[in-house]
Amino acid sequence: MANAETCKTIDCLRQDHAIIGRFLGRFKIVCQKVENLEELDFSLIRIVTFVDDFIETFHHAREEKVLFDHLERKNRQAAYLGRRLTHDHMDGRHHLEGMRKSAAIRSREERASFLWNAVGYAGLSRDHMSYEERELYPHVASLITQEDDEVLMAKFGILFPDSAQRIAAAEEFVNNLPAR
Ligand SMILES: [Fe+2]
Ligand SMILES: [Fe+2]
Repeated sequence: MANAETCKTIDCLRQDHAIIGRFLGRFKIVCQKVENLEELDFSLIRIVTFVDDFIETFHHAREEKVLFDHLERKNRQAAYLGRRLTHDHMDGRHHLEGMRKSAAIRSREERASFLWNAVGYAGLSRDHMSYEERELYPHVASLITQEDDEVLMAKFGILFPDSAQRIAAAEEFVNNLPAR
């Protein structure tokens, strides 16, 4: 398959990115409120749970177990690209754990720690997604035949039979975060 535009597998991952991109925009607003000591009407644990469930557990698993796995099998020389991105995923998890530990904000130190990890996580995520969209996805798309595309889509379905519900829940969650 010559381009990423007609590849269903890549299209699914790009749709995840669109939700994550919108989330990061709202998350920045939430962080500004935390920094300004504004009262929030929801717990920051809910943000941590969203990142854990949608980005870490769902989107990154779709990439690592389906996309990078395909790259590894189709083009061993370029497999390092997938491994590099897996390292980014691991770095993001360190920031996520930092957010989890401080999300209750019981002290000034916890507030600083939450914000430091949030900024780190958001910056890493943006750079990482932009690299994937610019470099990795087009490259892997060129290695996905129409037949592979169906197989990879089926793998997404086996990995998460409830994909549609997860995506709908993620969209709803992001829409309900403060927009200003
Ligand atoms: Fe990724
Ligand atoms: Fe991604």
